[in-house]
Amino acid sequence: MITATTKDEVRKQVKRWKEAGLTVGLVPTMGALHQGHVSLVEASVSQCDRTVASVFVNPTQFSAGEDLEAYPRDFERDREILEKAGCSMVFHPSVEEMYPAGSATYVDMDSEMTRQLCGRSRPAHFRGVCTVVSKLFNIVTPHKAFFGEKDAQQLAVIRQMERDMAFGITIVGCPTVREEDGLARSSRNAYLKEEERKAASVLYKAVVEGRRLIRRGEGNGRRIEKAMRELIEKEPLARIDYVEAVDGATLQPKETVEDGDLIALAVYIGKTRLIDNFTVRNGERESIKK
Ligand code: PAF
Repeated sequence: MITATTKDEVRKQVKRWKEAGLTVGLVPTMGALHQGHVSLVEASVSQCDRTVASVFVNPTQFSAGEDLEAYPRDFERDREILEKAGCSMVFHPSVEEMYPAGSATYVDMDSEMTRQLCGRSRPAHFRGVCTVVSKLFNIVTPHKAFFGEKDAQQLAVIRQMERDMAFGITIVGCPTVREEDGLARSSRNAYLKEEERKAASVLYKAVVEGRRLIRRGEGNGRRIEKAMRELIEKEPLARIDYVEAVDGATLQPKETVEDGDLIALAVYIGKTRLIDNFTVRNGERESIKK
């Protein structure tokens, strides 16, 4: 596996691959890799001839007071994980490489999409994500880029940005990878103390409850949210940021949920903010009738 730290190295290598007729997949990450990231690399390896993963803790997507400094960083460990997963090149740039002195251009989406859900408590977040992902798209010029469905809002925003900016890149969403008790894998799970880690399984319990209600025929978004909230509120270490039924593409609130809609939640466990979601799937209601 090649380790690149500059845009130039990446561009030259990708050019060689493309000249040889090879396809390229991109897996953007902030490091602190876990099984969820590995599944993205594996998806890319199975769909593309070469896979580039980026490891870069992007400062512009953190708001003041968030965990930019504390965000776990262990590049050697990440490098080994990527190599084992079949990655062809890891791009590990410095902040100066991605944001050279005097940088003044950002990619900002003028849409309610970025102001909903996580956008409410993290107002600058999606501007930072869109900016860094655009830069990575321009540097790597992949055929496909892979993102986790756990970050459902990020995935929807990136799909919209890709269309708006005509990048010509296929965006591939990959299923959430879970721990044994259902907790969605996340680099931020590492912040949880023992008691908090146990309490964190309440997010998945709420997902299971939401799914159960929908399978039973409940279609009212507010009632589904209420039942999920009530379940989470029973956990003393949990504090709800949001539980919302929204349209899967536009992320606008939905009164009546249909296939493709998203039920998304963000919950603080102690000081750690965790997210999860599920998509209302085709046939979920029918399966209960059998
Ligand atoms: O999902 C993440 O880890 C980050 O938001 C991303 C897409 C790598 C951009 O920094």
